[in-house]
Amino acid sequence: MNPAEVEDIEVRLFLEAIHRRYGYDLRDYAPASIRRRVLLALAKSGHAHLGQLQHEVLTCPPFFAHLLEDLTVRVSEMFRDPSFYRAFRTQVVPVLRTYPLLKIWHTGCATGEEVYGTAIVLTEEGLYERAQIYATDLSPQALAQAKEGTYSSEVVKTFTENYQRGGGTGNFAAYYTEAYGGVAMNEALRRNVSFFQHNLVSDHAFGEMHVIFCRNVLIYFGNDLRERVLNTLSQSLCAGGFLCLGASERLGRLGESLAFSDFISEERIYRHEN
Ligand SMILES: C[S@@+](CC[C@H](N)C(=O)[O-])C[C@H]1O[C@@H](n2cnc3c(N)ncnc32)[C@H](O)[C@@H]1O
Repeated sequence: MNPAEVEDIEVRLFLEAIHRRYGYDLRDYAPASIRRRVLLALAKSGHAHLGQLQHEVLTCPPFFAHLLEDLTVRVSEMFRDPSFYRAFRTQVVPVLRTYPLLKIWHTGCATGEEVYGTAIVLTEEGLYERAQIYATDLSPQALAQAKEGTYSSEVVKTFTENYQRGGGTGNFAAYYTEAYGGVAMNEALRRNVSFFQHNLVSDHAFGEMHVIFCRNVLIYFGNDLRERVLNTLSQSLCAGGFLCLGASERLGRLGESLAFSDFISEERIYRHEN
């Protein structure tokens, strides 16, 4: 057996240990990506081998809490892929306007950028008051940041450009105040948002959503897990509900079996038929 194969076994055992000790199931994440992140976490820890890292993970919950952040990718951006938001405003919003109440689920919301983006779109389209937004993620730390809604000044320029390119109709600066060397998103944008932990791998579907955003999350999952999670998402949508995936993700052959049809295919927006 060559060293890479041995390392592969060690990584699997490490993920198994995390699952048994803490219930976080990373075993079916895309192998190359999770392996890379485990090895980066090992290098950062200063331990000589995965056995040592595993021992610390098993015996020290606060250490694991930090490590979990390194095992998942949390990169996000407000109005990420602006053409998506432009399409959402012009083609999805008119359908949403026909519903008296809106339930919107942001899965894998990371540090909340997308959630505030949606809240801004709904505000400008006059739909915020009828919306309830559920913002969930696996990571407690990411959720804490999302709830706070503070971002560094360096990213605001990008957020502003994205907002304008995504069809923003107002002044982005009106949605935040300068705070602590960064910006704090307005409290009003959070009024109808519930933030809570939800694990797409192990937690249940929750139902009758009109829109689910699951952008840039499935790319980190292996094929079987991806299929299981898409099943959960399809069970969580009402008839005619919208599923929004990230730019590099597509439903492929699963679309038909899960009763999704393309709504705006180039933006990965799908509609659930039943
Ligand atoms: C790259 S971020 C995507 C953020 C945002 N959706 C976007 O597109 O900008 C991926 C997020 O998925 C979350 N995640 C990973 N595995 C998850 C799981 N099993 N259940 C829920 N969230 C998960 C990570 O914690 C991370 O915050």
